[in-house]
Amino acid sequence: MNGKEVIVGVTGGIAAYKAAELVRLLKREDLMVRVAMTKSATRFVTPLTFEALSGERVIHRMFHREGSAIDHIRWGQESDLIIIAPATANFIGKMAHGIGDDFLSTCVLAATAKILICPSMNVKMFENRAVQENLNLLEKRGFMVMDPTRGDLACGTEGPGRLPEPAMIKERAMMLLSRQDLSGLKIMISAGPTVEPIDPVRYISNRSSGKMGYAISRAAVRRGAQVILVSGPTGLNPSSGLTFLPVKTAEEMKRTVFENRSGCDIIIKAAAVSDYRPREYAGQKIKKGAESLSLHLVKNPDILAELGSERGDSSTILVGFAAETEDLLLNAEKKLRSKDLDMIVANDVSRKDAGFETDTNLVKFIYRDGRVEEVPLMAKDRVADLVLDRARALREARLEG
Ligand code: PMT
Repeated sequence: MNGKEVIVGVTGGIAAYKAAELVRLLKREDLMVRVAMTKSATRFVTPLTFEALSGERVIHRMFHREGSAIDHIRWGQESDLIIIAPATANFIGKMAHGIGDDFLSTCVLAATAKILICPSMNVKMFENRAVQENLNLLEKRGFMVMDPTRGDLACGTEGPGRLPEPAMIKERAMMLLSRQDLSGLKIMISAGPTVEPIDPVRYISNRSSGKMGYAISRAAVRRGAQVILVSGPTGLNPSSGLTFLPVKTAEEMKRTVFENRSGCDIIIKAAAVSDYRPREYAGQKIKKGAESLSLHLVKNPDILAELGSERGDSSTILVGFAAETEDLLLNAEKKLRSKDLDMIVANDVSRKDAGFETDTNLVKFIYRDGRVEEVPLMAKDRVADLVLDRARALREARLEG
């Protein structure tokens, strides 16, 4: 998201403190973030907090001394998105009726950027007809409104009125800032490890954290795809806006993938599936006793190979990952051919900064025609976009030819 600019407009509600976390999360996406506050907002959180988090000057007065006299016009026209969070009933009323009596409201009036409104207030205020009609009016004019969530409100009541969690607002913002080039496509992604139980307290698994697969699912949602995420156990939260299908074992993963594969335009298997599982499951915890213990393992189904062998003339694009510690290209290419894939993403998992658990990855894309494309070490989020770019291009080429 390098180069994109977002304005967070903070108005005077108790949820103003959550806007601080929102700014932090947006900054982590490499966005330029500027904050404008209403006078009442500064009673809840100081401008200094936002200045420290955004690294930019915060404007909270119409006639401020620094900067330019036309900042209220420049800001809304230079930015790609304005997020009003929290948006009070008063500020929503002002936006709906064209009132510009402070920096933020004049900035909204002059804006050419997309505007996302995140209302937050007492439930009775939120349900008030005037507020609802103002929100409807704004939506008709092209503003986007993110519904408040239900729950205990600071005023002691319960119901809709809470500001959505900053992570949810950030995801919505990222979607609005992303190109929607995957809209209309159904994409299934597998992620994380599988776990193969030995007894009620032990299992065989691997080091996959799910970061790579989750990054692909997040990027696909942002870019407008309909996404199914089939995931082994991880400590990660799936993005909102996708179908999340948690599984544990390789056999469960296979069942879930096959039950949901119909109509998928692209299937990307970033999961690290256990190749073997214990032949028997001990119903009770195995007791310590003998000096050694043997486990008899049997082969798990190869999900991707079965998808490859069954696809016939379907136009689904199949993408695998290859986790290798030696002979990366040779081994990855063998998997591409034996599983009949369109592309395989090879990662050398012996490196400290790539493969399992890391936030970065170093990958090579290998295609059916023998082409190999190398890309530099980068964040898994960026690798995710590249994987989706390549898969989309392969699909277009398949449909054309
Ligand atoms: O989750 P992270 O910590 O972010 O780590 C990311 C990753 C290293 C797990 C990921 O980038 C990756 O390489 N995933 C594939 C790991 C793997 O199982 O590779 P493989 O070479 O054993 O398998 C090749 C392909 O066949 C994979 O797409 C795999 O999902 C699939 N497979 C493998 C075995 C099996 N029984 N069924 C399968 O479908």
